[in-house]
Amino acid sequence: MADIQRSKIKALLGATPGTDVLVKGWVRTKRGNKDIAFIALNDGSTVFNIQIVVDKTKFDDGLLQKITTGACIGVEGKLVESVGSGQAVEIQADKIELFGECDPVRYPLQKKDTSFEFLRTIGHFRPRTNTFGAILRIRNQMAFAIHEYFHGKGFVYWNSPLITASDCEGAGEMFQVTTLDLNNLPRNKKGEIDYKEDFFGKLTSLTVSGQLEAEIGAMALGEVYTFGPTFRAENSNTPRHLAEFWMVEPEMAFYDIKDNMDLAEDFIKHLIRYALTNCYDDVKFLNDKYDNELIARLESILADSFVRLPYTEGIKILEKAVADGHKFEYPVAWGIDLQSEHERFLVEQHFRKPVILTDYPKDIKAFYMKQNEDGKTVRAMDVLFPKIGEIIGGSEREADIVKLENRIKELEMSRGTLEWYLDLRKFGSAPHSGFGLGFERLLLFVTGMSNIRDVIAFPRTPKNAEY
Ligand code: 4AD
Ligand code: MG
Repeated sequence: MADIQRSKIKALLGATPGTDVLVKGWVRTKRGNKDIAFIALNDGSTVFNIQIVVDKTKFDDGLLQKITTGACIGVEGKLVESVGSGQAVEIQADKIELFGECDPVRYPLQKKDTSFEFLRTIGHFRPRTNTFGAILRIRNQMAFAIHEYFHGKGFVYWNSPLITASDCEGAGEMFQVTTLDLNNLPRNKKGEIDYKEDFFGKLTSLTVSGQLEAEIGAMALGEVYTFGPTFRAENSNTPRHLAEFWMVEPEMAFYDIKDNMDLAEDFIKHLIRYALTNCYDDVKFLNDKYDNELIARLESILADSFVRLPYTEGIKILEKAVADGHKFEYPVAWGIDLQSEHERFLVEQHFRKPVILTDYPKDIKAFYMKQNEDGKTVRAMDVLFPKIGEIIGGSEREADIVKLENRIKELEMSRGTLEWYLDLRKFGSAPHSGFGLGFERLLLFVTGMSNIRDVIAFPRTPKNAEY
């Protein structure tokens, strides 16, 4: 097979027949009769397989028997127009090389059970299924689209640290990073753990958000964005939470809350449009197999402007729904942190389109949000999506040093790790805003999957860290 270059199946399926080609991939199925075998081969480049037609008289029987579902092979042959239905071209095999056999009895993907739950237990084979191939290709395309979008707008890709001493969201959900011997912890005179002895000489954790450090970037480079993993030790075993998830966090100098909302809406629409244009085969596959409203739902996001509504108005709508007999599991009152049932009611039943909820009570939002004149609310903005609930969380940032210091005191936060953050307000402060898009929440929406464990190759959730 030395002289022919390997082609990707995706390219061959759109190529003109008549040439000799070489493909390499994994057998999805093999069927046929005593004279001919048909092998469906997939190499991960597309959700579609290419059909290999094997004239059994030309090949050794022992070799053909080893070509079972899951086996890895290379095939050289002629690309010809297909006589069968279902594909435009197929390959007439001249040479077959077996790279890796696959025991049909022990290979778990042979099993009848292909439920999402079962597939989660075999994360090392799951990407070989059509469904996960499609999801992981979409994930890849969306990552590219994110970089392309911000690059096109002149934003600078900014890398906030993953190991940090500051708790951005102040929710105390951080995973500690330490090299101390947990069985023999150094103590100071007060009997407290002496972090001076630790690797970094202080208490450090994995970051819950790159925002605070991204603000440093915005105050120097103007418009920046992060795109990386974040970590939260939230003990919530829900279909929408991961302990390790990816977040995109743009942070912009001179943007007020309205500019921030405009960017968020344009950004998310761009990503959905990109998926429909550049991942159509994979999205269509998922639409046809699992959720035949998926494409319509994606298109509906593009059709209309998002609703922009203050939290207080949102609460009034929910209270009216309760008065009219709608049952929520969690009570509704001004001041509550909205549950996803509340968010989804507003989006799916009341407005029937995405909602950007603004001006939340300050007590349920993080310390850095710009305080409104009413003394009760902050300039927050959450983008709420059908089927998902909150997909983006963001705000205008408090740029006033006095107000920010007061808030830090009110919340009894330790100022020690935030001096540098306060400095940004003391030296050349600027109005600025930003938001965070949960990458896996976006992928849930774009793929139509209902569990966040199925849109990331290696989900990290409570009591689960395989691989
Ligand atoms: O609303 P959050 O907590 O906002 C922040 O972290 C801000 N610092 C962002 C910013 O302004 N730069 O998180 C942002 C988004 C949420 O809207 C949600 O989509 C996602 O991150 N998210 C999660 N995704 C998966 N698993 C979790 N445990 C998540 N927690 C938040
Ligand atoms: Mg949030």
